Amino acid sequence: MTEIRGEILQALRRAGDRFVSGEELGQRFGISRTAVWKHIQALQGVGYPIEAVRNRGYRLREEGEELRPEAIQAGLATSVLGRHMTVLETVDSTNRYAFAEAEGGAPEGYTVLAERQTAGRGRRGRPWFSPPGHGIWMSVVLRPTFPVFRAPQLTLMAAVSVAEAIRERAGVSVGIKWPNDLLLPDGRKVCGILSEMSAEAEEIRFIVLGIGINVFGREEDFPPELRGVAGSLAQPGSPISRTALIQGLLGRLEADYRIYQNEGFRAFREGWERLNVSLGRTIAVQTQSGQKIGWARRIDDDGALWVETDEGRLEKIISAEVIF
Ligand code: BTN
Repeated sequence: MTEIRGEILQALRRAGDRFVSGEELGQRFGISRTAVWKHIQALQGVGYPIEAVRNRGYRLREEGEELRPEAIQAGLATSVLGRHMTVLETVDSTNRYAFAEAEGGAPEGYTVLAERQTAGRGRRGRPWFSPPGHGIWMSVVLRPTFPVFRAPQLTLMAAVSVAEAIRERAGVSVGIKWPNDLLLPDGRKVCGILSEMSAEAEEIRFIVLGIGINVFGREEDFPPELRGVAGSLAQPGSPISRTALIQGLLGRLEADYRIYQNEGFRAFREGWERLNVSLGRTIAVQTQSGQKIGWARRIDDDGALWVETDEGRLEKIISAEVIF
């Protein structure tokens, strides 16, 4: 983003609910009203919800407060996670950015946040919709000492940590859909987790734990294919502070990650089961080899899902997409 565009955005953020006229912005930045309008159009073009009203000016319709590293770190009860932090206005993917930083030596706990991702990554190569100011797009670098085979369950653990933090800090009870999607009570997805790993033989070099939470997006803000499928935490009249949620999230994650290192997923299985909405129902399981329908029986200490097929056979699912 050009410097002046960033400054216009900043001025609109500071104005909050107030409209700022094109003339005022023009005077402030020493440019014409037409030039202001061109910058506003460019900002709208990349997704900033700026209202433009004749004779009044411009207003940023963005519920989320600006994310600032100092504000987040000031209320952070962690000793490692989030202690090194980068907050970006725009990035292709915080996971991609954190991964490159980790390869360059970023320490454990290094956290990257962005207001907007232009190529947010979801599981199975899907895109992750990440418009500005609508959510928490965050990646954390971990450098665990446990072996590679324990990495997938770390993501299951993270689902428990994030669900608890959302309940504590946003007052919303979300359910876990195996393996690690978080759903609103009405079934719409509010959070996805994507961990990416760099390993050598059996040794993990680092893991990037990527968490995406839709906080403010309204139904009409989602692209048509996500309407009815994706939801957001914030409800009219119940404001949520992204800063407080991030603080809660990093605090929970750090505490749980410590326990996980010592005790493994076993320590989280009960919590996962309590929060889960996948077990005890008929589900479709999409694997590399096709789709199966069955009854979701249980998960085990390795986080695998056990599904009973129509023929009464029990199958262990390690990696798949669950549909219900
Ligand atoms: C999913 O498909 O459910 C996983 C979505 C993970 C999205 C988050 S947003 C922050 C981080 N950066 C990315 O590019 N992806 C993850």
